[in-house]
Amino acid sequence: MRAAWVTDIHLNFLNAAQVQDFCAALCVESLDIVLVGGDIAEADTVEWYLKTMAADIRRPIYFVLGNHDFYQGSIPTVRKVMDDLCRAENRLTYLSQCGCVKLTDTTGLVGHDGWGDGRLGDYANSTVRLNDHRLIRELSGLDRDELLARLNRLGGEAADHLRGVLLQALDAHERVILLTHVPPFVEACWHEGKTSDDNWAPFFTCKAVGDVLLEIMSKRQDRQLTVLCGHCHGAGRAWLLPNLEVLTGRAEYGAPEIQTVIEIG
Ligand SMILES: [Fe+2]
Ligand SMILES: [Fe+2]
Repeated sequence: MRAAWVTDIHLNFLNAAQVQDFCAALCVESLDIVLVGGDIAEADTVEWYLKTMAADIRRPIYFVLGNHDFYQGSIPTVRKVMDDLCRAENRLTYLSQCGCVKLTDTTGLVGHDGWGDGRLGDYANSTVRLNDHRLIRELSGLDRDELLARLNRLGGEAADHLRGVLLQALDAHERVILLTHVPPFVEACWHEGKTSDDNWAPFFTCKAVGDVLLEIMSKRQDRQLTVLCGHCHGAGRAWLLPNLEVLTGRAEYGAPEIQTVIEIG
């Protein structure tokens, strides 16, 4: 089995012909499935782009959402739309809302959106003000303390989900692929060749997820975990443990690309 991994494709920055070309590059004989790591479009268009991808690519598509997918909308509303969409379109699977997917006898797939959860870096003194905190209903109009509590909670939700599905996946598979949007570690948070500083790290890392991955994988040295993430738009690879590898995808607005093709034994 061969999986194409894409992330931060931001399809709303493309014209129709460019979207068609992108889908055509994923609709080739040598690819069996597609993994989409979030930041697909925005709240009012993400459903349409996913339907278009499912129709044009004609392969199973496993995805998580990124912060941009909730812009101009609400997190629970968009997630509900995704739930309904995946019930109606069997080529689409939203990993934040399902358990471990068995890809082969040896490899399982799990995932969650994740969220920049404010726990790493220096939130109190950070000068970063993301559009998230204006354009996503649940994050707008909050003071700094309220916002931190909300970000903590979103990261905690991701960690709780991943703890359950990862344990389930590791019981049944030698290797697990974990798809998420936000890097779980500063070491995997690449932008222009460097990892995030304390100013950006609160919004570019999901520590709650990272803590769960380290805790579980340090106890399961007989198993291998590959994390695929994006969000900060810089490519990189980090080994957190001998059995825990994190790949971060490169992205440029208007030029979506295939990050890599993963051979799944
Ligand atoms: Fe992005
Ligand atoms: Fe993002």
